[in-house]
Amino acid sequence: MRKPFIAGNWKMHKTIEEAVALARELRAALEGDVSIGCDVAVCPPFPALAAVREALAGSAIGLGAQNMHWEEQGAVTGAVSPLMLQGLCDYVIIGHSERRNLFGETDEMVNKKLHAALAHGLKPILCVGENLQQNQAGETEKFVGGQVRAAFAGVTPEQARIVTVAYEPIWAIGTCVPATGEEANVIVGGTVRGTLAALYGNDVAQVVRIQYGGSVKPGNIAEFMAQPEIDGALVGGASLRATDFAEIVRNGLACK
Ligand code: PGA
Repeated sequence: MRKPFIAGNWKMHKTIEEAVALARELRAALEGDVSIGCDVAVCPPFPALAAVREALAGSAIGLGAQNMHWEEQGAVTGAVSPLMLQGLCDYVIIGHSERRNLFGETDEMVNKKLHAALAHGLKPILCVGENLQQNQAGETEKFVGGQVRAAFAGVTPEQARIVTVAYEPIWAIGTCVPATGEEANVIVGGTVRGTLAALYGNDVAQVVRIQYGGSVKPGNIAEFMAQPEIDGALVGGASLRATDFAEIVRNGLACK
């Protein structure tokens, strides 16, 4: 009942020209595939958004931004506002662990961004996930549950349905050490969906899509997609090669 959703986060990679080339390659590689029951999106860096949007026009591949400020405008040098993204892209990644760790984004900021995205018709991909130390100390459920509660504070049940949550254990990001499918399924189902059920009831929790992210590759996507609670993936490194990302989509779809 939840439509699978696979998104690529290009992070700080690709010039405008390279981004357009990658988008075209991906479009060619996926043509005919993505309309069959799976949502697919790519999230290029800000400067490439407009050009990639043009390159993907008329395709079923959606477009997302990687970050956003919560204010519509103001004296915030270097920031991009929801007004600027409105109409330009469909999705926006919020609270990625790299934003939290490298740029000091707090749960409170993530909550403001989530509200701003929803208020401007942008579909948020909200990232949560524990670090290695927390994982090894057995604190994953408490920490991730807390991140979900903080992010959704004040979000209505109707709005919550629109959010995609990406569970990304930090120790699995860019490390080639993914979680196992079972491990991820426990946190996605028990902790993330469980927390949403406690906040909004089961009806809402059952429609929210939850992705797994962290070293997803063509060879392991099936393990995650085969899990009942996991609805898709947020893919970093492997989304930078059109053939790999297309294979991830195809292999992922085959199990849902
Ligand atoms: P990775 O990144 O696939 O390169 O591990 C995932 C992410 O940060 O979203």
